[in-house]
Amino acid sequence: MSARPIFVVAGIGNGTGTGAASARLFAKSGYRVALVARNAEHLSALAAEINSAGGEAAAFPVPDYAYQTVLGVFDTIGAHAWPSAGAGEVRAALWNASGGAFKRFFDVTEADLAGSVEGNVTAPFAFARQAITAFRRNALDARGRRGTLLFTGATASVRGNVTTSSFAAGKHALRALSQSLAKEFGQENIHVAHAIIDGGILTDRSVSYRPAEFKTNEDIRLNPDSIAQAYLYLTNQDRSSWTWELDLRPAHEKW
Ligand SMILES: *[C@@H]1O[C@H](CO)[C@@H](O)[C@H](O)[C@H]1NC(C)=O
Ligand SMILES: *[C@@H]1O[C@H](CO)[C@@H](O)[C@H](O)[C@H]1NC(C)=O
Ligand SMILES: *[C@@H]1O[C@H](CO)[C@@H](O)[C@H](O)[C@H]1NC(C)=O
Ligand SMILES: *[C@@H]1O[C@H](CO)[C@@H](O)[C@H](O)[C@H]1NC(C)=O
Repeated sequence: MSARPIFVVAGIGNGTGTGAASARLFAKSGYRVALVARNAEHLSALAAEINSAGGEAAAFPVPDYAYQTVLGVFDTIGAHAWPSAGAGEVRAALWNASGGAFKRFFDVTEADLAGSVEGNVTAPFAFARQAITAFRRNALDARGRRGTLLFTGATASVRGNVTTSSFAAGKHALRALSQSLAKEFGQENIHVAHAIIDGGILTDRSVSYRPAEFKTNEDIRLNPDSIAQAYLYLTNQDRSSWTWELDLRPAHEKW
């Protein structure tokens, strides 16, 4: 029996959103899950939850999303001894680290901008470099593929608005990166995809600042488990019909 493939996910918030839902679903679907984020406590709680549910997960906390830090975490993942047999190959990776600082343009500080560039440009470049390097070591799988690299985008990936100058600049950059990578590395049977999440996502955090209806009305918000299903679908796509970009929104979203 060959070792389970590894899914690396960066950005899991406090364990109730898209990154965490993807980690749970990929673990159920036979992947070992390498969890990367800045909050060590939430990471180990999620790893413990997945492990006790019969999956295989390990936490790889990072102090920041500096370029060298992100490069280094892949080496740590590569050296990790998983409980089940075999070294395993990185076959899927998701860049979901995000965060929203919504400010009018004249309120955006140099520090805000530096944070936006690090988290939305520099870090995903490093993440992509390491994920693609890992995929390139993989033989083609039975369906002629080496790996899938996913990026979570937002409405701000394609549209700016009055308070999104730094957020939209970052998200546009991420989209441009993913499209460039999809074209360059499709040639090597590496699938790169970008998902525009166009709407509010149901998480512990979002229910704390949204109207009560947000929690109960499925018409008006995205369920992180459904986004995870879309990510698994992208990862399972046949190489004759690869999606670069999909957009997801709840039924009643105005757009
Ligand atoms: C994952 O992506 C979603 C959609 O953009 C975003 O709302 C969320 O904050 C991201 N999670 C983390 C932990 O950054
Ligand atoms: C991306 O940019 C936004 C807006 O400046 C910022 O709030 C967020 O933290 C950045 N993403 C990451 C992963 O740092
Ligand atoms: C743009 O921002 C305005 C003001 O915050 C808000 O009312 C509107 O819904 C936003 N538009 C989109 C498409 O998100
Ligand atoms: C996640 O954060 C929200 C608000 O920030 C909080 O209400 C919730 O209890 C947290 N959930 C977990 C699992 O830590």
